Amino acid sequence: MLHRQLPLELPLSKGVACARKEHRQSLVGEGLAERSLSEADLVAKLNQVFYDVEAAQYDVRHPEVIEGDAQWWSRRGEVLIRDLRTRFTTGRGLLILDVGCGTGFVASALGNYLADGDLVVGLDQSEGMLMRARSKLAGKTVSRCRFVRGDAARLPFPDHIFHMLTLNSILHHVYDYRSVLRECDRALKPGGYLLMAHEPNKEFFQSPLRRLAASAYKLAGFGMKLPKDIYEQINSRLSESHLAASAASAEDILRLVEYHSPVEQGAVRIDKNKGFSLPELRATELRGYVLIELNEYSTFYHRPQLERRPWLMRVAQTAARLLNGKGNLFSAVLRKAAA
Ligand SMILES: C[S@@+](CC[C@H](N)C(=O)[O-])C[C@H]1O[C@@H](n2cnc3c(N)ncnc32)[C@H](O)[C@@H]1O
Repeated sequence: MLHRQLPLELPLSKGVACARKEHRQSLVGEGLAERSLSEADLVAKLNQVFYDVEAAQYDVRHPEVIEGDAQWWSRRGEVLIRDLRTRFTTGRGLLILDVGCGTGFVASALGNYLADGDLVVGLDQSEGMLMRARSKLAGKTVSRCRFVRGDAARLPFPDHIFHMLTLNSILHHVYDYRSVLRECDRALKPGGYLLMAHEPNKEFFQSPLRRLAASAYKLAGFGMKLPKDIYEQINSRLSESHLAASAASAEDILRLVEYHSPVEQGAVRIDKNKGFSLPELRATELRGYVLIELNEYSTFYHRPQLERRPWLMRVAQTAARLLNGKGNLFSAVLRKAAA
């Protein structure tokens, strides 16, 4: 059996003592200061509520993922799956784990390259996102996919069983991202591939000019927005679970949900200490991994407001080419050292 254990309910909030109470007020703001939750628990709970609510609209609200990342995943999937088949000849098919699978974006991108006996397991803590994934893939590659609920920082799988581990736009949502990477390393076979994409590139945000450009982009109204219906549903769920004394601000919600994103730490301010540096990760949790590919890129111009105005989209894409150099996001392919 593949799963060691699959928790039905995640022990995220109830009765958790606040380990860092002194930070609580400044970290979570007025509305979310009611319960004694650690910052880590708040980030987890906010993510769960947020994605349960956003699930039905996720694919439409995030063209920067669904359109922006699709080609990369499909091309890498084709090449790497073919390579894995030549190197792992167990005859039992390939096992792939997509951590933080959401509505099944990576599973669909890889689906065309799966063969009989292969299995993609999508893991996510939001039941709302998992339900969308199951219904989206029904009738397509669903017989080769399983979607299970779980915490990325505590993977419910045995050691060294997956040939490939994928993460798309998940690491910056998890308070303890180092545990996620350690867990991925534990579950990945020696010689297997680790792919991560759509993560904020810390290197990019070291430049004051780029931080200024990112602030201007937000000020011009193109930043991430919470529509009224989503904002109200999130607050009513927070209030039902006694997590908020009064309505949490949209800014607080985004700051906690996008916990390691440099651009969501304030209305305009960009936090250069947030985000991830691949060289730093390779010197710590990913030591011993061979870097196959690093791609620094941007998809920020895939916002609904810009997609409705093709001329503005072209201006934004040209500005991105001129200004970016590095790209505010990165994707990477790494191979774990063989045993
Ligand atoms: C931006 S979405 C990305 C979804 C999908 N990978 C994609 O590219 O469309 C982030 C996902 O991470 C999930 N998530 C956040 N924290 C998590 C955790 N600790 N464990 C498992 N999933 C988590 C959310 O529920 C959400 O589905």
